[in-house]
Amino acid sequence: MYIVMATPECAPVAKAGGLGDFVHGLSRELASHGHQVDIILPKYDCLRYDRVQDMETYHSDLWVPFYDRAVHCDVERGEVDGLQCFFVDAHSEHGFFNRGAIYGDADDPDRFTFFSHAILSFLLAAGKRPDIIHCNEWQTGLVPVLLFERYAAMGLDRTRVCYSLHNLGHQGWTTPHVLHMNGLDAGRLMVPDRLQDPGNPGAVNLMKGGIVFSNFVTTVSPRYAWEIQHTEQGMGLQGVLRTHDRKFGGVLNGIDTNTWNPATDAFIPVPYDANHLADKGANKTALRNRLGLVDAAKPIVAVISRLDRQKGIELIRHGIDFSLEQGAQFVLLGSAQDPAVNAQFWEAKKVLQESADAHLELGYDEELSHLIYAGADMILIPSVYEPCGLTQMIAMRYGCVPIVRRVGGLADTVFDANYNDRPFEERNGYVFDELSFDGLESAMKRAIGLWWEYPDYFRQLRLNGMRMDNSWARPAQDYLSIYEHIRVR
Ligand code: ADP
Ligand code: GLC
Repeated sequence: MYIVMATPECAPVAKAGGLGDFVHGLSRELASHGHQVDIILPKYDCLRYDRVQDMETYHSDLWVPFYDRAVHCDVERGEVDGLQCFFVDAHSEHGFFNRGAIYGDADDPDRFTFFSHAILSFLLAAGKRPDIIHCNEWQTGLVPVLLFERYAAMGLDRTRVCYSLHNLGHQGWTTPHVLHMNGLDAGRLMVPDRLQDPGNPGAVNLMKGGIVFSNFVTTVSPRYAWEIQHTEQGMGLQGVLRTHDRKFGGVLNGIDTNTWNPATDAFIPVPYDANHLADKGANKTALRNRLGLVDAAKPIVAVISRLDRQKGIELIRHGIDFSLEQGAQFVLLGSAQDPAVNAQFWEAKKVLQESADAHLELGYDEELSHLIYAGADMILIPSVYEPCGLTQMIAMRYGCVPIVRRVGGLADTVFDANYNDRPFEERNGYVFDELSFDGLESAMKRAIGLWWEYPDYFRQLRLNGMRMDNSWARPAQDYLSIYEHIRVR
């Protein structure tokens, strides 16, 4: 099958969070089964160019409609970890992809609907006729709309769309100007069963457009699929998702087990696996030395996260104090987009400056993240909501025990050590329900207490996590079944 991944992110060259890992991991698995996979993403100025091989101009005369004129684009081709990637370079006076960051500008809806339009213009102009375009997030929600309304009639009539929702907290709310900008008929589309936002009749909802016009819609865990249809986690799209129930389902993400493998990880000083778990200790020492944590006898609790409201910021901050209170050390690697949140964490960092038991590293650092997974004993993920969550799966592969809130994909992957109906071999962490300090403390106390008092039992939990299969093998088969189901034969 010929599959095009339409995406604003792809690890490791353009990654803001788990979406980058998703595209990279799923594409590698599909390609390993012999399918042709092309990834199309914007040519950001902040791309990790050092991780792209053989970049060259592939298509130099692409004109993408923009209001009543067209913008000149080049498309570059390059390889990322053996994957074929196409990068759209827009020569517009707006500098659409030259903002020093992937997201975060007021005109994001313009930038990414332009990108969506460029994807279809490119496929058409370059003679590419994919069986499937796999779109992701609101940033590519306009692709199926444009395909159905314009491009199918122009030659892309055999292409079908699978659309994945990674986070309903961001739906691409904007005004009808994006429809005019892309040559679409606002009169036809700004109606309740198409792109009109359910909560605001004057607003365009790009994610809703993607849901309505795609042939199949997925989200990234079964539990989140249920939550967004039946609870306020749907953030206004509950009804739309229930209406389209017959073409909607949850597929639990995997992780790329080559990138995330403690036995071969080039970013950690001493490799290890489930049969050589004692070697994890040397990585803990390296982590303590790097971050200035003095006492070698204590457990390390870690957080690796975007510092966004979604991630339970208040609980993360409380987790720092509570870890220290319970005799543990604490490490945080986090990046905040919101200046107020950023300031809060800089303040916390200042307070802890002299602490020999805590270290906060503010920013994005891929290499350090690997050392933390390898060196830490527990990872804390107290999310308000979590569509899937990859950090708990990565942590488990590194023998680091997750402490999580029972939401979304966290509930589908972490099974409580004490309170669970699963056999002991499948229990791998600690889970709490209540979004409160009490809830958090109940789980953290059990986890840290076990580390201190029952090391053998704690070791077994680590091993249970390391032996879980969270690879892309099974989910990729699920996606292939979906593609088979919708493709034109
Ligand atoms: P989300 O996509 O909501 O941010 P996920 O758990 O799905 O959450 O994925 C997060 C990914 O980003 C993981 O690969 C994690 O290791 C990585 N990550 C998060 N924050 C940082 C950071 N500050 N530095 C390096 N990597 C990070
Ligand atoms: C989103 C979600 C996260 C998920 C990731 C990959 O960023 O917040 O839970 O794991 O997408 O699907």
